[in-house]
Amino acid sequence: MSSFSSRTLFSRTLNSLAKALAKRRAQGQPVIDLTESNPTRVGLPRPEPGLLATPEAYSYEPESTGLLPARQAVAAHLSSRGAKVSPEHVVLSASTSEAYSWLFKLLCDPGDNVLVPAPSYPLFQFLTQLEGVELKPYRLPRAHGFGLDVDTVAATRDLRSRAVLVVNPGNPTGHYLHEGELAALAELCAETDMALICDEVFSDFAWDTEPGRVTTVVGRSLPVLTFSLSGLSKVSGQPGLKLGWMHVGGPMAERDEALARLELIADTFLSVNTPVQQALPTLLAQAPRFQAAVLERVKENRQRLLAARPANATWDVIPAHGGWNAVLRIPMEPGEEATCLELLDAGVLVQPGYFYDFIGGAGLVLSLLPPPDAFATALVPLVRVLSR
Ligand SMILES: Cc1ncc(COP(=O)(O)O)c(C=O)c1O
Repeated sequence: MSSFSSRTLFSRTLNSLAKALAKRRAQGQPVIDLTESNPTRVGLPRPEPGLLATPEAYSYEPESTGLLPARQAVAAHLSSRGAKVSPEHVVLSASTSEAYSWLFKLLCDPGDNVLVPAPSYPLFQFLTQLEGVELKPYRLPRAHGFGLDVDTVAATRDLRSRAVLVVNPGNPTGHYLHEGELAALAELCAETDMALICDEVFSDFAWDTEPGRVTTVVGRSLPVLTFSLSGLSKVSGQPGLKLGWMHVGGPMAERDEALARLELIADTFLSVNTPVQQALPTLLAQAPRFQAAVLERVKENRQRLLAARPANATWDVIPAHGGWNAVLRIPMEPGEEATCLELLDAGVLVQPGYFYDFIGGAGLVLSLLPPPDAFATALVPLVRVLSR
């Protein structure tokens, strides 16, 4: 098979959970899906119908970093969270995932690496490999509530490390970055010439307040080239509209060089469609309605989960502060996979912790997005299986 690049050499064998799920579905047996993370499938508010039918939907202005009114809308959205943002420092893409691929093109030569949190969102393996970039996981210590430990980041770095990625709050850990951690990380990046990439797709979904929490790196004047990433996928619950954005900050000369080069990368693809850019000001204006409904949903489901846990349970829900997930610690025996298979037999689908690169213990990851009735129904077999 020498005709293909090693970039696309991914394992395509189904794991035992995926096989068991396919079998169960083929047999027509019901499944309550507690891995559902698609916000358009769980009865949450959607933007008004018709927003994409803008009068100029069929016009075409090839603006590489995005149409100015759309970038102005993102700048206003970001400014509402703190420091004033200029639309000139905003670049639109078709998704956050595409923004990552542009950043890896911008920052890395083939064989360079980026430092990525672990446990975390599993797509990074694919996003890096497809760009010929190596992924170097830095551990988020369990003892530190899966918060960032800058010494671990420094120890993971090598001479080919070009950037540090932070997911704030973590997916699925729901842990936010704190001021001291950000200051130490920015210092390390400045000393070692690494860029800071901050994934803020879940930052609007905080369940509580905490002293010293960082919700965004935008407008912070950090001494390092800084990229803040987000998009409509999470901010307005519309992954299918295909619009993400990045804000570029840091020392002026580097920031401007990054923007000039990103303009060229973006110009090569011109991937953001016109109607979504034209509808963006209204989509962002309507996002708070979606966000309020998500917050109510995830807090309610989490509360139900905590209330369903028997006092003497051998499993626990790890403390977290935001996002759309819950992580459970479960006993090492029979472990993640056997528990997931047993739960599936009982009609409930959850993810094993290893999908997110949790190590040193066993865990399950549950989406908190499903409708409350379905979530409550699933808790009965969940608690029964975990109490065996
Ligand atoms: C942490 C994180 N970043 C990025 C993304 C991808 O977002 P997009 O749909 O904008 O590519 C996801 C999607 O689940 C995510 O969890």
